[in-house]
Amino acid sequence: MGVQQSREKIVRPTRCFVAAVLTAVLAGFSAAPALAADAEAGADLATQCSACHGAAGISTGKNFPNLAAQKAGYIETQLKAFRAGDRSNELMNAIAASLPDSDIENLAAHFASLPGADPGATAANLSGLDGMAPSFPADFEEAFKRYQRIDFEGRKQVRFYSANATALAAAKAGGAFPAGAYLLVEIFEAQVDADGKLLLGADGQLVVGERAAFTAMEKQAGWGQAVPDILRNDDWRYAVFSVEGEHRAGLNEGPCLACHKPLTDSDYTFTYETLREFAEAN
Ligand code: HEC
Ligand code: HEC
Repeated sequence: MGVQQSREKIVRPTRCFVAAVLTAVLAGFSAAPALAADAEAGADLATQCSACHGAAGISTGKNFPNLAAQKAGYIETQLKAFRAGDRSNELMNAIAASLPDSDIENLAAHFASLPGADPGATAANLSGLDGMAPSFPADFEEAFKRYQRIDFEGRKQVRFYSANATALAAAKAGGAFPAGAYLLVEIFEAQVDADGKLLLGADGQLVVGERAAFTAMEKQAGWGQAVPDILRNDDWRYAVFSVEGEHRAGLNEGPCLACHKPLTDSDYTFTYETLREFAEAN
C-alpha cells in the first residue's frame, strides 16, 4: 500500500508533465503563425497611434515622425526604448508603457509594410473627431473658482487654474470626478520691461499682463468612447480656447490625452492635491 502510494506520487506528476509538454508543443504548432510578427494584428492596434502618426503612418504634424515604411527592427527598438525609458519623450513613454512585446512586434510589422509618404504630407488628427469636446464656459468668472496660480518664467506666462462646482465638490470628497466636472486654465502673458525682462511685483511674483488663451478639460458621460484606449482618459476631453472663447481650430487632442494619461491616481489631473486642499478650506 505504502509502495503503491509513493508510486502514484511519482507517476502522476510525470504524466502531467508529459501532458503539459505535449499540450505546449501542440499549441506551439497550431499558434505558430501568431508567433511571427502579424502585420494585420498590428493594423488594428495602429488605430491607437493615428491621432499623431496618422491613419496610414503619415503623421499629423511636424512634431510627429512618419512611421510608414520605416524598418520594422527600428520601430521595434524605438518602442522598447520608449517603454524602458531609455529614449525619453513624455508622450511616447506614456504610450509605450502599456504595450507588450507582441503588440510592439505586430505594430512594427504593420508600419513597415505601409508605403512611405511624399515629403511634407500630413494626415488628419484627433480633433473635432466627434463633437465631444468642452465648450467654453462663458460664465466662468462667476461659476468657477481659482484654486491655483503658477508662474512660468521660461514661457513668460502666469496661469490660473479654476474649477466648477461639480469638480470642487468631488475634490472636497477626495474622490474621482463625476460627469460635469470642468477644469479651466487661464493663461496670461507676464509683463516685461522695455528690454523684454520679466517684471516682478512687490510680492516677488510675475506681473499679470494680457490674457492669452484658455485650456480646458471636461468630463461628460460617454465622451471617452471615441478615444482609442491607449489615449483614453476615462470620459475627459480637452480643448484650447482663444481669449474670445473660440475653439482653437484643428487642435490635436492626442498630446493632451497622452501626457495626462499616466495620472490615473488623480483622475488624469496634475493639480488634484492643490484643488483638494482648496476645496476643503473653502
Ligand atoms: C499623442 C501623440 C502620439 C501618439 C498617440 C503616438 N505617438 Fe509615437 N511619437 C510621438 C512623438 C511626439 C514622437 C517623437 C518622439 C521624440 O521626439 O523622441 C513619436 C515617436 C515614435 C516612434 C519613433 C519614430 C522614429 O522615427 O524614431 C515610434 C516608433 C512611435 N512613435 C510609435 C508609436 C506607436 C506604435 C504608437 C501607437 C501605439 C504611437 N507612436 C502613438 C507621438 C505619439
Ligand atoms: C507634456 C505634457 C502635457 C501636455 C501635452 C498637456 N498637458 Fe495639461 N497639464 C500638464 C501639466 C504638467 C499640468 C500641471 C500644471 C501645469 O504645468 O500647467 C497640466 C494641467 C492641465 C490642466 C489643469 C488641470 C490639471 O490637470 O491639473 C488642464 C485643464 C490642462 N492641463 C489641459 C490641457 C490641454 C487642453 C492640453 C492639450 C492642448 C494639455 N493639457 C496638454 C501637462 C501636459
